[in-house]
Amino acid sequence: MSCPVSETFDPFSPDYLTDPHPVLRATRGDGRVFFSSTLQRYVVTRFSDVEQILMNPSDFSSAITVKPLCPLSADAQAVLAKAFPRLPTLSNADGERHSEMRKHVQAVLSLRRLRTLRGVVEQRAAEMIEQMLTKPTADWYAELAFPLPAITAFELLGFPTEDTNRIKEWVTNRQIMTWGSPTAEQQLEIAGNILAFSDYIEGVIEQRKASPRDDAISELLEIHRTEPESLSLVDIANIVFLLSAGAHETTTALLVHAVRRLLERPQQWQDICADPSLIPNAVEEALRYDASQFAWSRITTKPVTVGGVDLPAGAELLIVLGEANRDDEEFSEADTFDVRRERARRHLSFGKGIHFCLGAPLARMQGEVVLRLLTAAAPEVALLPGQSFPYEPNAATRSPKELWLDLSACRREGAVA
Ligand code: HEM
Repeated sequence: MSCPVSETFDPFSPDYLTDPHPVLRATRGDGRVFFSSTLQRYVVTRFSDVEQILMNPSDFSSAITVKPLCPLSADAQAVLAKAFPRLPTLSNADGERHSEMRKHVQAVLSLRRLRTLRGVVEQRAAEMIEQMLTKPTADWYAELAFPLPAITAFELLGFPTEDTNRIKEWVTNRQIMTWGSPTAEQQLEIAGNILAFSDYIEGVIEQRKASPRDDAISELLEIHRTEPESLSLVDIANIVFLLSAGAHETTTALLVHAVRRLLERPQQWQDICADPSLIPNAVEEALRYDASQFAWSRITTKPVTVGGVDLPAGAELLIVLGEANRDDEEFSEADTFDVRRERARRHLSFGKGIHFCLGAPLARMQGEVVLRLLTAAAPEVALLPGQSFPYEPNAATRSPKELWLDLSACRREGAVA
């Protein structure tokens, strides 16, 4: 089948950023695969096609997952070239290189570390909710959803707490470089931040070499000490850079979307307040309904057929995880948000197969802890009426940048046990 071509598909248009599903459905055609001439990518939207791609890494390479959707200026590239060398690591690596790196990262994201982090998340989230409850209204994004996953990720890696604000300034907007359409000026600014953050990572690695602590960087350095040929210092720097991005903004998006969708449906919010055993499935449904990483990339290694469309070798794909999650062929009434949905967990928001997200347990834990605390402390919370939900010009990492809560009906003090 020949592939439909769209000259107009624009994943940075306000319509797409606010709600990408109608735009994709109007564009995709019957085969649900189309070629975007603006992006020079094949856009794949059907659940079974996306799943097939994820499960077949020899035909669909991950080599381009961090390649910017819009080309970078020479000036921005020159700044980035001053940072430590970027090597294929985990999400953008294939074959043996990928399995080698994945083994090391899996080792440091252990159950023991997850348990320790759970304590940190419970304490910090409770404090943040308590603080919000002292006010009649609060911005959930600014007061919890943005800072909490950052604190968790930095605690995991072992960045000193006092550096949190500095790091957040460097990493904010970094995803725009890969998934946005930044101006030349913005590219230079973001590249400068990436360079500063890269230098900072190398500095922390040096510090941990001299004085190890109980954190992921120190654990990776211990592996490097015993198996230097398997894990170099540059590998560690690349892993830390990747984790500090992957662990943070995606989880923010989950926390914002989960609360938004539940409060937009007050009956479902009341249901999880009355029966907290529904919360784990509510988290899965939030992940399915609004994939934090809405789209992801692959490149074909040989001629293949996807959704009946013949693709050449070297075809760059935009695989739309978030639209696959809303595929009626896979999920009944896929556009309905339902905390009781059966098998909601088979969504593709964490990918599938050999690259399945290594942080999924940590992200799920944060979602569950936060919903348990909020439902217990503030069952009367509501969305502040009349608000819009502003999204950044980012074609893939989707999250509203504000979410205003009406807390006027909630208890004021000592609400969080
Ligand atoms: C809601 C939160 C999160 C979402 C939606 C998410 C989503 C994803 C997706 C879509 C992939 C790519 C899968 C593929 O290429 O097939 C991925 C990979 C990855 N994620 Fe996450 N992620 C989240 C949180 C985290 C956290 C908290 C961490 C770390 C603590 C993390 C670490 C990773 C790593 C290391 C990979 C690369 C795995 C590999 O290539 O083998 N993620 N994630």
